[in-house]
Amino acid sequence: MYNIAIDGPAGAGKSTIARQIAKRKGYIYVDTGAMYRAMGLFLLENHISPEDAELISKKSQEADISIVYENGEQVVLLNGRNVNGLIRTEEVSNMSSASSVNGDVRKKLVELQQKLAEEADVVMDGRDIGTCVLPGADLKVYLTASSEVRAKRRYDEMTARGEECDIDVIKKDIEERDYRDMHREISPLKQAEDAVLVDSSDMTIEEVIEKIMELCD
Ligand code: DC
Repeated sequence: MYNIAIDGPAGAGKSTIARQIAKRKGYIYVDTGAMYRAMGLFLLENHISPEDAELISKKSQEADISIVYENGEQVVLLNGRNVNGLIRTEEVSNMSSASSVNGDVRKKLVELQQKLAEEADVVMDGRDIGTCVLPGADLKVYLTASSEVRAKRRYDEMTARGEECDIDVIKKDIEERDYRDMHREISPLKQAEDAVLVDSSDMTIEEVIEKIMELCD
């Protein structure tokens, strides 16, 4: 199996890039953030506090999260229900980041991710893919961009969808989430020693894709 790991902070463009690379290579794209988001949604729906680690450990075991593919798109199932349309809100973003510090949550989802990578050639994106989920990946990329650029991209996406938003609030949210993701005790976001650093601040999507395709070859 050929495995490509793409890690980096929120809004660096990981999913757009990983999806395109997977398409060009004919691999399966695995969006691990969507799994943490489904878990965040489950905890929110059950009115669990992000601070209650013990209850998160216990309750998270009742969430059956799985992945299926429909027309080439990843669909996340939470206890059999397609939750793709519910996991992209700011509320779920924050809950998924908060609950992803939990060791029991991570253990459950990492096992699922490793199983997927054993069964197929994958491009997997997340925070800990190169460092923890697939330490033996054939190619590891650490994709980043400045927080200003990432906030601007998110702002453009949201305004294009007609959503009202404030760029300063988005930037603050991104920076808080970065801090939490990088400073948690278990598998924090960091560049693996053997990962290639790609800073996309001044690059177009196409340039980033080309760069990674070259690295694959
Ligand atoms: O990539 P994303 O924004 O969809 O991820 C949502 C949250 O899930 C992110 O803030 C941290 C967590 N996450 C993680 O801890 N490990 C991963 N491999 C992917 C995401």
